[in-house]
Amino acid sequence: MAQWVRLCAAGDVPQPGKVGQYEAQGVDVCLANIGGELHAMDNWCPHRRGPLGEGWVEGDRVVCPWHAWGFEVTTGNCPEEKGHVDVFPVRVDGDEVLVDIA
Ligand code: FES
Repeated sequence: MAQWVRLCAAGDVPQPGKVGQYEAQGVDVCLANIGGELHAMDNWCPHRRGPLGEGWVEGDRVVCPWHAWGFEVTTGNCPEEKGHVDVFPVRVDGDEVLVDIA
């Protein structure tokens, strides 16, 4: 069952091509803006727990700032390293950004 919670104000999302680090009810979330479309994933890289929200965007991936594993924003997969992070549905509701952390 969906559990939509507030992530941030709509005006506080990253600029296109950027990522940011947010927190929603105790869950650390990396939010990426890819061409104006928002994508949310677990903030912590499964390799050595690098902060994905301090990384960068390359194509359709968020790249970890520590050792450059790249995670697809739609699947959370890093096929080359067989890594995976959870991805969360995200939507804008009025002036708030909501994420489904269920
Ligand atoms: S901690 Fe993310 S690639 Fe190593």
